[in-house]
Parts: sequence; structure tokens; C-alpha cells
Amino acid sequence: MSQQTWNADEYKQHASFVPSLAKDLVELLNPQPGETILDLGCGDGLLTLELQQRGCSVIGVDSSPGMVEASKNRGIEAYVQDAHYLNYHHTFDAVFSNAALHWLTQPEKVIQGVHAALKPKGRFVAELGGHGNIAALLKAMAEVFAENKDFGEFVHPWFFPSIKDYQHLLEQQGFEVKTIILTPRPTPLNSGLGKWLEIFADSITRHLQAEQNDVFLSSVKDKLRPILYTEDKGWVADYVRLRFEAIKV
Ligand code: BEZ
Repeated sequence: MSQQTWNADEYKQHASFVPSLAKDLVELLNPQPGETILDLGCGDGLLTLELQQRGCSVIGVDSSPGMVEASKNRGIEAYVQDAHYLNYHHTFDAVFSNAALHWLTQPEKVIQGVHAALKPKGRFVAELGGHGNIAALLKAMAEVFAENKDFGEFVHPWFFPSIKDYQHLLEQQGFEVKTIILTPRPTPLNSGLGKWLEIFADSITRHLQAEQNDVFLSSVKDKLRPILYTEDKGWVADYVRLRFEAIKV
């Protein structure tokens, strides 16, 4: 599978709903002035900036150089880092993450690194795509690949765990889970389904030729129009969020 790449300008223009919908995740984190916080998968730094403006000392990490640059442009201390290989020890009061953990397919490694990065009693507060997330989208993409043998094998690049699975992973790595919930969150795609696919399914389609990509886009849209599109709401993605707060014990 090829790696997902990100364009910070496109993300800001067409995917700003991602940080906007997570403002209340910041309330769950309840950041206090003077706290040290790691934002794991900080993206273009919109939420990281909010933590900083609340008086926290914040570091952002992201695997995308473009996103890290965008965060730095907001005045955030940010580093390019694959979160499977975090290398902090007893440094942070909290680790925060929005819409990033489902891109990390070795969760044990990630959680172990987060645990090591936290001070004793530190908190890990995060939201990611949970079990059932984008089920219709995934089914349509997989079907289009199956119908077009020249596209190759469809590889699902994400990790969408159930409550039980993620709670187990957290406990295994030394966390006590305070809250963990799974909630459907139908999410309007104001820039349309084509843009969503272009931005988020890049690792799935990058190897396709231009004509194959056109077939992919139009076929996925045709399959999903009766399910995810209405005249009054436009395209609405079938998001499901897993949100939790866990404490290092
Ligand atoms: C999500 O936030 O749930 C998501 C975003 C892009 C691709 C897959 C899932």
C-alpha cells in the first residue's frame, strides 16, 4: 500500500470540518494553563493552537511534513514524526489526538509510546473512527475495485476499533479507561464526495491512471448516491466516532 499524502491547503479548504467537529473533545481534555500537552496527529494545528491559547505548553507531531509546516506557521512547536515510534518519557500531563489514530495500524505500538510519554496519572484523550465508520463508503470502494480487476487489490488502510477492542488495548498497555463511547456522527461533506475521496482515499487510488481514477470516482458516487446523498443535505458521510479518556496508572 502506498502512503497517504496530505496537502495542507486542500485540507484547510475542504476538510476543516475535521477539527471543527472536535471542539468538544477539547472540553473533555479540559486543558489547564501551564500543562504540557502532546497533540498526536496535529494536522494543520487548528486544535493545537486552541490548546496553546488556553495557556498550555504544546508540542504537535504529525507524519506529514506539509501539515507540520502548516502547524509551525500558526506558531506551534511541531515535528514530523510517525506516531508508531514516539520517543518521549514522562514528559506530558496529557496526550490529545483527533481523527489521527485510525491511520495508525499498529495501535499497540502507538499506545505504548503514549503511555511512556505521559507523566504518572497523565491522561490520554482522543477521538478516532470507530467500528462501523464509513461502512457504506468502504463497501462501495471495495466493490468498485472488485468490478475493475485492473485496479488491483483493494486494501483498507484504516483501523476502526470497537469499544471492547480499544478498551482492551488501552488496559493492556497500562491505562485505566475513564470513559469510552461509540457514536454515529453523520458528517456533511460541504465540498462533496469527490473531494473527500481525493483528499482521504489518496493511499487507495494513488496507483491508478487518470482514466481509472475517473471510473473509480464516478462508480463510487453512483453506488453511494442513493445512500449518502439527498437534495436538501447534499453528501453526508457515515462517520462513527470512538471517543475516550484514559489515565496512566
Ligand atoms: C475519519 O475521520 O473517520 C476518516 C477520515 C478519512 C478517512 C477515513 C476515515
